[in-house]
Amino acid sequence: QTDIPRIRDVVTEFPVGAAITAAETLGVHGELLARHFTSVTPGNALKWDATEPAENSFTYAQADPLLAYAKAHGLAVRGHTLVWHNQTPAWVFTGADGEPMTATAADKALLLSRLENHIRNVAAHYGDDIATWDVVNEVIDESQADGMRRSTWYEITGLDYIRTAFRVAREVAPQATLIINDYNTNVPAKRDALYDLVAQLRGEGVPIDGVGHQMHVNVGWPTIAETEAMLRKFVPLGIEQQITELDVSIYRDSTETFEVPPADRLLAQAYAYRDLFALFRRYAADITSVTLWGLADDNTWLDTFPVTRKDAPLLFDTRLQAKQAYWGVVDPS
Ligand code: XIL
Repeated sequence: QTDIPRIRDVVTEFPVGAAITAAETLGVHGELLARHFTSVTPGNALKWDATEPAENSFTYAQADPLLAYAKAHGLAVRGHTLVWHNQTPAWVFTGADGEPMTATAADKALLLSRLENHIRNVAAHYGDDIATWDVVNEVIDESQADGMRRSTWYEITGLDYIRTAFRVAREVAPQATLIINDYNTNVPAKRDALYDLVAQLRGEGVPIDGVGHQMHVNVGWPTIAETEAMLRKFVPLGIEQQITELDVSIYRDSTETFEVPPADRLLAQAYAYRDLFALFRRYAADITSVTLWGLADDNTWLDTFPVTRKDAPLLFDTRLQAKQAYWGVVDPS
């Protein structure tokens, strides 16, 4: 379909991107990607297990081809992600004695030095080719009194892993936009915990440039009013906001399964995309990037999360044809 509008020509307020694998830069996928999008996020290729599988042994074999494709097509790249509790090798959290780290000063120093070494290598390898980094991912747990997820990072270092990550990233990639990224930021308690953390750390001088809202949402949740409240909350901080992992599941809960996406769900999805993009464009003064977590429904992480079932959360279908959801974005009338 080369006769339909390019998303990039219609939505010009901010870059619009897709999370991709190397395979999606090839053939018809690569054509669709470059036709419609202005940004890409390697979905897995820059995570710790991909870039530093063994200590101080760095490999960019997965990510470099994606970066080369992006450069050839003039696409921005979002670097995802420097620090996370998932997809991080076990050696990172193993002490010098070969045992799992505990909350001792020695283990804390070792963990922070590994963190610093990781960021120095990965961010320096890409320099200005990666203009935005998700420096830390999913650090909030609003069910905790202090709002902080009890990851090994937190258990061993408290907030220092976040402080170190942003300071080192700023030092190594001074031009890059540094983002703190999380999911369910539309949930008021989580949103407020994230806000409080960002306000505190920025008050200390930690170089956080913006908040990333993952926005893994579905056809019935959240409401546009709730999403707008999420955006509005962070405006007083005067920081950037990015939509980093948008997809709109056709399922309303984890018990449903459809063999074929029902027409009413695909229509509801189109209205959801229409209303979300209209909202984002109204907040264009604050939003500096919007990324879909996938290119087309033939490859979406929601096919296996939270359970295995076929989902259809993106703008193009399994045959790469534009869905009603696509028309919701490009023709909101
Ligand atoms: C997902 C990838 O899409 C999958 O391929 C992988 O198996 C698991 O991770 N939040 C994030 C992303 O920040 O890194 C996750 O990506 C999806 C949820």
